[in-house]
Amino acid sequence: MMVKITIGRVVLVLCALVALGLGVAAAGLVPIAASSGHWKITDWFLHWTMQNSARTYSAVQTPKSVRDDSGLVSAAGHFRQACQVCHGAPGEPPSPVMQAATPPAPDLAKTAGHYTDRELFWIIRHGVKYTGMPAWPASGRDDEVRRMVGFVRRLPTMTTQQYRDFTEQALTAAAPSAAAGCTGCHGADGMGRGQPDIPVIAGQDTAYIAQALRQYRAGKRGSAAMQAASAGLDDRAIRTLSAYYAGLEGLPRTSIVPLHPIAAQGLPEAQLPACASCHAEGKPPPRIAGQRPEYLAERLRQWRGDDTVIDVHKPRQPMAVIARRIPAEDIDQLAKALSRATP
Ligand code: HEC
Ligand code: HEC
Ligand code: HEC
Repeated sequence: MMVKITIGRVVLVLCALVALGLGVAAAGLVPIAASSGHWKITDWFLHWTMQNSARTYSAVQTPKSVRDDSGLVSAAGHFRQACQVCHGAPGEPPSPVMQAATPPAPDLAKTAGHYTDRELFWIIRHGVKYTGMPAWPASGRDDEVRRMVGFVRRLPTMTTQQYRDFTEQALTAAAPSAAAGCTGCHGADGMGRGQPDIPVIAGQDTAYIAQALRQYRAGKRGSAAMQAASAGLDDRAIRTLSAYYAGLEGLPRTSIVPLHPIAAQGLPEAQLPACASCHAEGKPPPRIAGQRPEYLAERLRQWRGDDTVIDVHKPRQPMAVIARRIPAEDIDQLAKALSRATP
């Protein structure tokens, strides 16, 4: 018997197929159990789709610079607190619980080489849907993502010892136990292990340290590294840690007036107030003399960034306005001058 193919019949068959598909889904017959894994072909297809997607979107959705090899300590420390549980790390197997997911997270030491820096940046920044691979939790922190790309690139050749050196530093006898989650990045002495992106917290003002930790914990100050590090701290731990780090020898209490003309007088023609009018002993703003120059400059640039909202109802948060009034070409030089203070 010949069946004539008409448009009407094709539409009818398509409708029937859609209805059948919906029926199967409605009846709960689509297998979603992670325990059985994907079929080989599904696995290949999904991963192939993900790689193609990363290639296409990374070509248009990434900033000019996508990799930074200068902040390996903070990136390694963040990898340890946020990625190792799924992916494993040198000398550290992934959690068997996480490896029971479908798909299980790959060993990045083996797979990172399949991707360009641009693709790694895109995957780490945006995550991968339906796999558990999370997006970067802090927006406006492409600098952190760049450092993570630098770190992931190093994984294929990184030894267990190197990974430990990046992420661990023993507590001193006087340190409270809560500091165990801090020393890997900030050092046992709170000086930041000489890293450009990790601020000196030793000798910082107690109330300011506590306020910064509460802001990170609440996600009000964006930093994936610090959001993860502060997530488990209760108010008591915050008080203990603030008092401890404030009591260590670190940032000097000297006046910033002699360090730079902008610190002393500001720039009246740009309506830029003198930094020293707020950053002075006995006032709430943090100590900035003796701080890491790269960190100071990066903080000022973040306040100038597009993500920063200037809220006129919050005159107590003046730095976004102030940072925008500092001439762009003066930022690095000003940050360097401020960092040079010695006790
Ligand atoms: C909850 C588990 C989980 C966590 C936590 C996690 N990932 Fe993933 N990640 C995955 C899974 C699963 C994939 C595989 C996605 C795929 O194949 O489509 C993946 C893929 C990747 C890839 C692409 C590599 C490849 O072979 O496909 C990179 C790079 C990556 N993750 C980096 C990170 C970094 C960096 C962190 C920490 C900031 C992190 N991941 C945290 C589960 C996780
Ligand atoms: C994974 C690395 C890492 C760990 C672990 C870590 N920090 Fe940090 N910390 C950083 C980085 C990087 C910054 C700068 C973040 C930014 O740009 O806001 C920072 C910023 C801070 C600040 C703000 C300083 C300022 O001048 O504004 C405080 C306070 C702080 N950390 C305290 C702690 C304490 C206390 C712990 C332990 C509970 C801890 N950190 C754990 C990397 C880390
Ligand atoms: C009106 C008061 C005021 C003036 C003037 C001011 N600041 Fe600030 N500054 C603050 C406050 C308040 C904070 C804390 C902001 C926060 O925690 O969100 C801060 C924070 C900072 C930080 C971050 C420090 C850290 O440890 O993270 C830097 C860097 C900074 N200021 C630089 C400057 C410079 C440079 C000038 C001069 C051009 C200046 N400030 C002038 C009030 C001021």
